[in-house]
Amino acid sequence: MGYQVYVPSFQDSNGDGWGDLPGVTSRLGYLADLGVTIIWLSPIHPSPFVDHGYDVSDYRAVNPRFGTLHDLETLLGEADDRGLRVLMDLVPNHTSAEHEWFGQARHDRHSPYRDFYIWRDPGPGGGPPNNWVSRFGGSAWAWDEEAGQYYLHLFARSQPDLNWRNPAVAEEFDSIMSAWLDLGFSGFRVDVPHVVLKHPDLPDNPLVPEDQVVTDVRGSREWWRFQHRYDMDQPDLLDIYARWRAVTAPRGAMLLGEVNITDPGRLRRHSADLGLDTVFWFGLIEHRWEPDRFTEWTRKALDGASGLVWVLSSHDRPRAPSRYGGGATGRRRALTMAALTVGLPCFPLLYQGDELGLEDAMVPADQVQDPLLRSGGATYARDAARTPMPWSATPGLGFTDSPEPWITLGGRTPGQTVSAQRRDPASTLNAYRRLLRLRADDSDLRHGKLRWLPAGQGVISYVRGSTLVVANLSPDPATITLPEGRWQLTFRTDDPGPGHQAMGTAEIPAEHTWILRRD
Ligand code: NOJ
Repeated sequence: MGYQVYVPSFQDSNGDGWGDLPGVTSRLGYLADLGVTIIWLSPIHPSPFVDHGYDVSDYRAVNPRFGTLHDLETLLGEADDRGLRVLMDLVPNHTSAEHEWFGQARHDRHSPYRDFYIWRDPGPGGGPPNNWVSRFGGSAWAWDEEAGQYYLHLFARSQPDLNWRNPAVAEEFDSIMSAWLDLGFSGFRVDVPHVVLKHPDLPDNPLVPEDQVVTDVRGSREWWRFQHRYDMDQPDLLDIYARWRAVTAPRGAMLLGEVNITDPGRLRRHSADLGLDTVFWFGLIEHRWEPDRFTEWTRKALDGASGLVWVLSSHDRPRAPSRYGGGATGRRRALTMAALTVGLPCFPLLYQGDELGLEDAMVPADQVQDPLLRSGGATYARDAARTPMPWSATPGLGFTDSPEPWITLGGRTPGQTVSAQRRDPASTLNAYRRLLRLRADDSDLRHGKLRWLPAGQGVISYVRGSTLVVANLSPDPATITLPEGRWQLTFRTDDPGPGHQAMGTAEIPAEHTWILRRD
């Protein structure tokens, strides 16, 4: 079971208003107790924080804001003692413009670092070299006065893209990755690995026909106006993946790719044997409540690709309960979805606060920090999913003693805190604890052979070994025929009490998941 720790907002240990590494260490007991086995730490390197740490200015150091190398070693050691594997967030597509490599590159055409980035002269009309757009809005090219050329940035202007066609870049990353694995990391969550290679000729991307342009949950439309044929997912990307695997595989370390491709056919080559060990499956996170799509896509995804990591929320998307309608309905639907994914092959991964049923926080418009919103690339500020973990109903939520946390506390209520939910048997936290315990204790849910059962519209049902999972996402109760035998109910979305037995058929309430175990 995976868990994403968003370091700046998890636990502050020194009262400066920022979450930090000793803070994470102090909460390892909470995570282990929850049933977590793999932790992904959001970026911990020095960074001007324009894109909240995804703009790295030194890959070989720890951001002093988060602690010291010694603090990191302590965290990794204590995690290991508890049987927790920790993944580092590796950001290979771009650096911060403040990285020393970029400083040298823009300053000196003959520097060995010039070719670490992607430079071009203006296009024929004097403007940008091609029509590529940044994920954060506007052209993907920025004119650099000092360098006298344009550089490519698929994200913010202050995040220049690295040139992975230069072998020296790959060599640097081999060495960076090896060093962190030697320190005790168990692998990497790799940031946007599918975009690191671009077509060598940088041709214009074709436009999507106007009536087929979609907008994602973050509201960014400009990006989706184009077919991203030449700025991502290039055929020879597999050579880069193989190279990374050559560093991680001998050490038994894991690569978890943030590959934002939801066509299972196209995703296949990024995952398992051909690509990375595991990849996120974003088919469930990009959408609001769409039962038919979820049931259909979950099956399609599994039939198409392997090594899928199941996520419902992250620091980049509106939180699942908000996407699913908000309030008690949104929370119930999110738990129903979490229970659906708990027995799917590979593993599910929670985002901090999922286990509390947290909805998006309230962030006043004048306090928004997200470059995606500020550059006009979206109508949704990711800050709403990035506010601090509410540990207790104290002024700083048990997150910080500082009166000025780095981001707003988000208007959390006492009932949303860990301490209140711990005491309430009917809380979302206790439901997640039961669910995660079940996965930990029932090896069939992790290793059993998966077999789909026939199910009606909006219902998805599978058996793994002697365990049966039925998710009824439809708005009506669903009667399902149980496979032969006596079945013991071990989990249901709405019920903290001990399970009952069922035989023959079972009626699953609307928008509920049941998990049953053969007696
Ligand atoms: C994906 C990260 O999750 C997101 O937060 C970031 O803005 C982009 N990659 C760029 O690094």
